[in-house]
Amino acid sequence: MNEQTLKVQKIKNGIVIDHIPCGMALKVLKILGIEGDRGSTVTMAMHVNGKNGPKDIVKIEDRNLDEREIDKIALIAPSATVNIVENYEVVKKHRVHVPMQIKGIVKCMNPKCITNQREPVESEFTVLSEEPLILKCRYCGREMKQKDVIESII
Ligand code: CTP
Ligand code: ZN
Repeated sequence: MNEQTLKVQKIKNGIVIDHIPCGMALKVLKILGIEGDRGSTVTMAMHVNGKNGPKDIVKIEDRNLDEREIDKIALIAPSATVNIVENYEVVKKHRVHVPMQIKGIVKCMNPKCITNQREPVESEFTVLSEEPLILKCRYCGREMKQKDVIESII
């Protein structure tokens, strides 16, 4: 290893979220509830050179991701891969996928939507388009673009 290759250290155990679009690493940390004040050790690299151009990377030690968290990552970073690292080896690698049904993880932008009332119904969206991301509320029909979706992840 030399100065040109050592950017971010390898981790022993945990997860590496790789191939995140530039600038999205902070959003990924936010939706995972990571604020750096307790829990896992986190390293983050923004705008690093990858094989296919610049990318962001997030590494979280001694932590797993559940399906719900992976679905949220897919909305923010559809190109991401989630690598599970055990004893320094990548033991599992999977690409995230925008889920077909998005239930309870995005808040509808329409304040009058039934999902935003005092006794709310759980939000639910269908995917009109993955790239660029466009979701449609099952209840009020409101369409949301990726930028809105990212701001509305619960
Ligand atoms: N990684 C890590 N710690 C380890 C092993 C891997 O932080 N002990 C990181 C690597 O730095 C890389 C990611 O996990 O960012 C995936 O590792 P690997 O599959 O070895 O890299 P590539 O083959 O380049 O992955 P891809 O083909 O998905 O780009
Ligand atoms: Zn709605």
